[in-house]
Amino acid sequence: MCGIVGAIAERNVTGILLEGLKRLEYRGYDSAGVAIMSGANNKIHNVKAVGKVNKLVAAAAKTKVKGRLGIAHTRWATHGKTTVANAHPHMSGTDIAIVHNGIIENFEVLRDKLIKDGYVFKTETDTEVIAHLIHQTRKSGKVSLLNAVKKIIKKLQGAYGLCVIDRNSPDQIVVARSGSPLVIGVGIGENFVASDPLALSQVTDRFVYLEEGDIAQVGLESFEIWHGGKKVKRAITTIQSTASDAEKGKYKHFMLKEIHEQPKVIQDTLDGRISGNKVLEEAFGIKAKGVFDKVKSVQIVACGTSFHAGQVAKYWLESIAKLPCQIDIASDYRYRDIIVQPGTLFITVSQSGETADTLAALRFANKQSYIASLSICNVATSSLVRESDLCLLTKAGQEIGVASTKAFTTQLTVFLILAIVLARRTGLKPAQEAKLVKELSKLPGLITKTLKLSNNIKKLSQQFTDKNHSLFLGRGIQYPIAKEGALKLKEISYIHAEAYPAGELKHGPLALVDDQMPVVAVAPNNDLLSKLQANLSTVSARGGKLFVFADESIGYKSDKSCKVIHVPNCPDILAPIVFTVPLQILSYYVAINKGTDVDHPRNLAKSVTVE
Ligand code: F6R
Repeated sequence: MCGIVGAIAERNVTGILLEGLKRLEYRGYDSAGVAIMSGANNKIHNVKAVGKVNKLVAAAAKTKVKGRLGIAHTRWATHGKTTVANAHPHMSGTDIAIVHNGIIENFEVLRDKLIKDGYVFKTETDTEVIAHLIHQTRKSGKVSLLNAVKKIIKKLQGAYGLCVIDRNSPDQIVVARSGSPLVIGVGIGENFVASDPLALSQVTDRFVYLEEGDIAQVGLESFEIWHGGKKVKRAITTIQSTASDAEKGKYKHFMLKEIHEQPKVIQDTLDGRISGNKVLEEAFGIKAKGVFDKVKSVQIVACGTSFHAGQVAKYWLESIAKLPCQIDIASDYRYRDIIVQPGTLFITVSQSGETADTLAALRFANKQSYIASLSICNVATSSLVRESDLCLLTKAGQEIGVASTKAFTTQLTVFLILAIVLARRTGLKPAQEAKLVKELSKLPGLITKTLKLSNNIKKLSQQFTDKNHSLFLGRGIQYPIAKEGALKLKEISYIHAEAYPAGELKHGPLALVDDQMPVVAVAPNNDLLSKLQANLSTVSARGGKLFVFADESIGYKSDKSCKVIHVPNCPDILAPIVFTVPLQILSYYVAINKGTDVDHPRNLAKSVTVE
């Protein structure tokens, strides 16, 4: 959470920092700020505003602040309300300004001590202690900014990506990383820092990824990195500009654009991994074969939408690969007494690869007796990928809308490929593999057909606008899809949405059903269809209003109590992916009807880097 940008150049950096913040808004958007050093006396001008980055842009335009060194921040509040005072950068006196991403867990103890030492706190944040600690360490004038940061971070417990400037050291930015991502953007005669390369794609395509525990001093012409007291070299990675990902193009919202990108990104995810009638196992990397040969069971860990992908995968790993599979919510996994069965592969699933709970689960798992850790992730350079033994990348491209859409369907695509590769070891015959691969190759076309339902779903969405509650139902492998549909609706339209396995209705939730409670069901043409239909008839019988997304081959018809949307007929194996799409479209249009901020739903952030 929270986005950081910093720049040192021989030109005015205000525009660069503000543009960087706009690109980082997905990391938090309750307030933003920028601190710029300028003038002969290196004064630090600190401009902050509550709300999205546009509010800060307006505030900065009024002050006309300009300078060649600066840091900036977009906030997702953890400690203290969303006020101007609590927005970053935070200062100690007029000399030091810092921006911070993460949480300082022992800030109260540090703050009490600093208050005793005479420091006056102006904010409710955990971050302000860092600024004062640096000031306290430097005030004798004998300690360099770099050494002051090295010294004070030893006192910090928690997580930080940190960027510091000091008017007494006007030729550098000092940064430190522990638990929150940071990159250095390498320019020519200018350098930058950010929590995500996306923030800097307008100024450079060369990046150095700082590792856990790194501290760096970034100057105009050069930068130096230290780790564990020693100077270290880190490779420069060139990454292609992601500018087109960061534009909405013809779409009104990133979410809508990303929903419509799904045929392409699913194709990108399949490319190079399937060919003709088989999965290309070589695409998993040289280490993979040795690991896959040993797999006897699977443990999956993830959060939110990625967790739902893991829940679907459990069904595939059991039915296709005949492997036992457990799945846990990442924030709970490491707090229970886990028992690792011999031969278990540990899998994390994450769009960002920086989700703190998932990363902590991986670090915990890496110390257990799993045969290996594998991450299914959308960001090749993320902490999760770097700290896992194996990775399977989703090729969804940058996902900017806070509500995850294309990342989810590409995660499912990757899981299907993985299930097939593992199934080879448990008796899947080449002919069966050929059938599955043939079906998989139809997926992009099927999603394109499903997207054509948009106008029908848009009309239907009007029936949800004035509702406060909704139920989503599915059976078997479609239950996690119902959960994903409910999550999408609640997070962007703020309508309370709950998902149930349809067979559970009679055990309690049926009591909620009345004409004010829309009930959404996903009904592919599978073995559980007749059971689902029986469950749905109990809703109609109680005056409930049903909205059923049904495979067109079933011949399900709309009537007074039930509106049916026909979804293109698809193979059983692809149904979870295909049926996700109409639910995404439904939540999008309900949110549009309600006038919510679709790409930036309240209280949320895209990348959740706090526990
Ligand atoms: C919901 C959503 C979140 C994320 C969750 C995990 O639309 O996006 O529930 O899925 O925060 O994030 P990643 O996948 O980045 O680990």
